[in-house]
Amino acid sequence: MSTTPVKVAVTGAAGQIGYSLLFRLASGSLLGPDTPIQLQLLEITPALKALEGVVMELDDCAFPTLAGVEIGDDAEKIFDGVNLALLVGARPRGPGMERGDLLSANGAIFTAQGQALNKVAADDVRIGVTGNPANTNALIAMSNAPDIPAERFSALTRLDHNRAISQLAAKTGSAVSDIKKVTIWGNHSATQYPDIFHAEIAGKNAAETVGDQAWIENDFIPTVAKRGAAIIEARGSSSAASAASATIDAARDWLHGTPEGDWASMAVRSDGSYDVPEGLIYSFPVTTKNGDWEIVQGLEIDEFSRGKMDATAAELIEERDAVKELGLI
Ligand code: NAD
Ligand code: LMR
Repeated sequence: MSTTPVKVAVTGAAGQIGYSLLFRLASGSLLGPDTPIQLQLLEITPALKALEGVVMELDDCAFPTLAGVEIGDDAEKIFDGVNLALLVGARPRGPGMERGDLLSANGAIFTAQGQALNKVAADDVRIGVTGNPANTNALIAMSNAPDIPAERFSALTRLDHNRAISQLAAKTGSAVSDIKKVTIWGNHSATQYPDIFHAEIAGKNAAETVGDQAWIENDFIPTVAKRGAAIIEARGSSSAASAASATIDAARDWLHGTPEGDWASMAVRSDGSYDVPEGLIYSFPVTTKNGDWEIVQGLEIDEFSRGKMDATAAELIEERDAVKELGLI
């Protein structure tokens, strides 16, 4: 086993996603069996006692890869020297809260955390945002961390990507492992565009294999885009284990590279590719290598896809303008 642990911060660590994520991280799902991990866990003060209980459970697992755990409510202490920050903690929408209320409540969290990361994170830090509204929270954190390169920030659309693979596998009776090159475009919200026109099933075009445009438009796309709400409806609370799993998938591919012949969906700062307005945190198909990502270029976009990609961009522009108005970016 190598000796220097990788320092990974998780915010909202006492929450639902945290309860699944921390154990996967500690057991080696992200870094493998030979790399020790140091967990740096941030919570708000009232949740620290519950977090202490979670740490007792982490201790009780006796994970060989877990080098240590630090908890606290001070972002500058917890983010000190971190190589990866998984920003999960966010204020969920409560009764009577308007979209603007949510953006401003979360804005305060992500401005402070962006500033703290800017001050104390390691030079090689990568920051993945899971807390909703994930794309705009990532934009806020990025805008408040001027010394960290913008490409080190991403928001999670990997759960949507995984949901799309699963739906496609079920429809076609294929193995999940045979499905490649699925894309989620845009926002992690109901306007996202899950695209299978460039996807492959066992090397053949997925949309042609399905051969059913009505299913793609009326079944597949809304099922994937509204899956979060369906899970809330069924479980009484939002997806947690699958969100934790996707958070790990996204970070693992970012740090260690996407597999040959495939790509991942990641919401990253738009450079204007595919005519997506520059500067939005928008989900694209990306390949990754050595901790860097590149947007897959040259995909043909037909009129149907263009409309969907523009609609989700329009929503992100609205969110961006709202947080600009609030003085958060
Ligand atoms: P949760 O309410 O169970 O946990 C959130 C935790 O964050 C709480 O323990 C809370 O105390 C903590 N927190 C709040 N403010 C904080 C701050 N300033 N610093 C540190 N911690 C803070 O929620 P959850 O189910 O774990 O979900 C977390 C977030 O992830 C939510 O915003 C949820 O909507 C989002 N989510 C995103 C995806 C995705 O695919 N991007 C999927 C599922 C859930
Ligand atoms: C999800 O996709 O499951 C989460 O983002 C929860 C939500 O509010 O949809």
